[in-house]
Amino acid sequence: MSSLAIIGGSGFSGFSALAACDVQHVETPYGDTSAPVTRGQLAGHEVLFLPRHGKGHHLPPHRINYRANLWALRASGADRVVALAAIGGITPRFAPTVLAVPDQIIDYTSGREHTLYDGTHGTVEHIDVTAPYCETLRLALLAACSRAGHAVIPQGTYGATQGPRLETAAEIIRYERDGCDLVGMTGMPEASLARELGLCYASFAFVVNWAAGKGDGIITMQEIDANLTCCVERIVDVLTALAAP
Ligand code: HPA
Repeated sequence: MSSLAIIGGSGFSGFSALAACDVQHVETPYGDTSAPVTRGQLAGHEVLFLPRHGKGHHLPPHRINYRANLWALRASGADRVVALAAIGGITPRFAPTVLAVPDQIIDYTSGREHTLYDGTHGTVEHIDVTAPYCETLRLALLAACSRAGHAVIPQGTYGATQGPRLETAAEIIRYERDGCDLVGMTGMPEASLARELGLCYASFAFVVNWAAGKGDGIITMQEIDANLTCCVERIVDVLTALAAP
């Protein structure tokens, strides 16, 4: 059976809106997933859920087994994957608590297991990522925002950084010059692996802080947590609208 899957990020180690849950450990050729895959009901439809950082938020962005997570979701029947992403806002429209559905990515990560075509299976593949997100799912997310009555920025370029530290102000100036609107630590290689697996993948981002140097003073975890809390209800509304076609 094909299903919508949600990858939870910061603030979404669990997804309490899911009803009648069944939790499954999925064996993968790439090792352990961040957590078992939860299968439940949202708006009466089957939805899969996997918290990217693990159940207790113990995995930093560079230690996440992105290959295993996406492989396990596909093996569990997912064909559409919505990736929740807490991000920092760089350009003026991306103020804290804003929701966004990015349409482009620049990858600044390094040293992550970033492909299934790693040369160990005798084939060399070069997948197309001109549009790194699935446009059908992006549009469905935007329509769900509209049905739920929540404002959203319908595009933007996501700069994927290595973390787990936040950026310097100079790095953010460079990313802005490159064309980034928002910055996060998990957007890659998740998006390109999803493409390699033939999954329809989109990011649903929510701004939890001004990126380094764009706000007043330093970035604090208190500010991030407070903004994240402000976004949770709207995110659940939108995902519920998305699950109900
Ligand atoms: N930078 C990178 N990743 C993030 C940020 C940030 O400012 N906020 C939330 N995730």
